[in-house]
Amino acid sequence: MQKKTVRDVDFKGKRVLMRADFNVPLNEKGEITDDTRITATLPTIQYILERGGRLAMCSHLGRPKGAPDAKYSLKPVAKRLSELLGQEVKMLPDCVGDEVKKAVFGLNDGQACLLENVRFHAGETENDSEHSKKLAELGEIFVNDAFGSAHRAQCSVSGVTEFIGTSVAGFLMEKEIEFLVQAIENPDRPFLAIMGGAKISGKIDVIQNLLSKVDGILIGGAMAYTLLKAKGIPVGKSLVEDDRIDTAKDVLKAVEQKGVKFLLPQDHLIAPEVKEGASVQVTQGTEIPDGQCGVDIGPKTIAAYEKEIAAAKTIVWNGPMGVFEIPAFAKGTVAVAEALAKSSAKTIIGGGDSVSAVNKAGVSDKITHISTGGGASLELLEGKPLPGLVTLSDK
Ligand code: 3PG
Repeated sequence: MQKKTVRDVDFKGKRVLMRADFNVPLNEKGEITDDTRITATLPTIQYILERGGRLAMCSHLGRPKGAPDAKYSLKPVAKRLSELLGQEVKMLPDCVGDEVKKAVFGLNDGQACLLENVRFHAGETENDSEHSKKLAELGEIFVNDAFGSAHRAQCSVSGVTEFIGTSVAGFLMEKEIEFLVQAIENPDRPFLAIMGGAKISGKIDVIQNLLSKVDGILIGGAMAYTLLKAKGIPVGKSLVEDDRIDTAKDVLKAVEQKGVKFLLPQDHLIAPEVKEGASVQVTQGTEIPDGQCGVDIGPKTIAAYEKEIAAAKTIVWNGPMGVFEIPAFAKGTVAVAEALAKSSAKTIIGGGDSVSAVNKAGVSDKITHISTGGGASLELLEGKPLPGLVTLSDK
């Protein structure tokens, strides 16, 4: 890690502005249904408080439209943080302004508060430098532990670094970067990538970037149907991105040129409709008959993928193998999760649905690293610089 981290600064008596990613799921009652993103950043919070930092934390939650909206308030997060830390984390009514400034400047060593959702101001997502400046007034040191938001060039992620002398990474940011960058740049081989999910459009750049780094790629999910169609294989009425067929052809051409092992499903679980309770069948081969949709990878594909996983030394997985939200269509995704859990490889899972899949399969404790960032980990795998990382102070 070439960037400074919390280990490189003295927090005693200093006002610390910390960006976390507290974008946690809430139910209709406004209760947090999964606090992984909060617990993941606790080591950084505790480290700062134990060293006498005066901590003002900030985050976004959801996508409010640049104005206050009670359903996106961070109040439930302040409550959860207070419980987890065993000390009060005072909830402030806004993220900028005189009242907020007074409260932050009034903190004692080792005290913490949480600013209200940074996206209650339109300036945040516009990366408005006046807004960054106001936010930056709150801290003498900036700590970024929001890996999940590191791909967003926004005031609280990167804009504030222009106005605060020292900007460092928290432990979560450091851990995420180390695992993901190490896997891509210096993997133990064979290095396998498993890509799934509905759309090839969001994964094209990842596949293109990984082609020169991995030894093999396994494809699942509906993106496989777009690739199969691009090869001229019938896919019935499966979900296909018809406007991406040419891009899919380019990917297949690049695969051939690189000589990378690129496995598409050899068989499928199919149903007349993507609906709970629909009657399912397994195809004999790669073709999907008219009137049927692919909903999961089939048993031959599962066996082939398990074999590849067992032989790999580094595995990065992003995206489910089928419509895994419906239990009858989740077999392929769960099988991949279980195969990863059994493998002795370094296994890294990038955000979102694949994380739900390993949780569902009950094997999350057997995965080397589960990223807290979906979009951020994908952009890192695409080889793009992350604004939340590049703007931190160099060592
Ligand atoms: C996420 O959930 O992926 C991050 O918190 C980023 O959220 P965003 O896509 O709304 O910027």
